[in-house]
Amino acid sequence: MNHFNIAVDGPAGAGKSTIAKLVAKELGFVYVDTGAMYRAMALYFLRKGVDPKAAEEIERSCPEVDVTIRYQDGVQQVLLNGEDVSGLIRTEEVGNMASAVSGYMPVREKLVELQKQLAAKENVIMDGRDIGTCVLPDAPAKIYLTASVEVRAARRYKELLEKGMKADLKEIEKDIEDRDYRDMHREHSPLKQAEDAVLLDTSSMTLAQVVEEILKIKYNNGQEELKFNYDLTSERKIPTRWVVTTSTDGKIKRVYSTK
Ligand code: DC
Repeated sequence: MNHFNIAVDGPAGAGKSTIAKLVAKELGFVYVDTGAMYRAMALYFLRKGVDPKAAEEIERSCPEVDVTIRYQDGVQQVLLNGEDVSGLIRTEEVGNMASAVSGYMPVREKLVELQKQLAAKENVIMDGRDIGTCVLPDAPAKIYLTASVEVRAARRYKELLEKGMKADLKEIEKDIEDRDYRDMHREHSPLKQAEDAVLLDTSSMTLAQVVEEILKIKYNNGQEELKFNYDLTSERKIPTRWVVTTSTDGKIKRVYSTK
């Protein structure tokens, strides 16, 4: 049995999570934010006062860290050793630490395993940096979302101002460039476009346009279009050619390929 998984990768600030959430809603899929898992690990190390360069200490501490995911009203929450830290991981400090500690293999092994388990249970749209290349190499639909550094920085700047926070556009740009460099040049699972991923540059696209593009991309190496039927029982769009079973409450139990 195979679930229908969509892999979304791309650099920080490309709009992956906003877009993946909208697509998930449209398709009735579960949205999995893998960056949140790395951020939870990063929070653990920040609280412990660990230097991001202290490879040995980080690797030694990995077994102490338990990251789990739960869903409340369809919204992902991330638990760090049982504590819901979803509201504490969105700062630049945690983001930069996540980018640093995600370079260590023991950190990645732990989280990739959790991500694979989630995708094996449900139809997911999962976003991150290595989803199409490493976590879900067989996903039938892969998208690489990007945008120019200037556009990504401007979006982030606007977001922070809207939250009433102080922000410096030049500093954000520099931060994004540094993060891109680290994420793309690390030894293990660096950020890169999977060969069979569809590239979408969202620099001059609206959210609605990106979602629309994703819903009509070709999958399986461009051989088939992702077509959907509207399923009246579940009130969800279902990829055609995929067998769907629903439980009595109308929820999709499983979707699997007939091939
Ligand atoms: O998407 P994000 O900004 O929340 O991710 C934070 C950091 O976590 C990112 O800079 C690199 C790392 N990360 C990763 O290495 N692999 C993933 N699948 C997701 C995130």
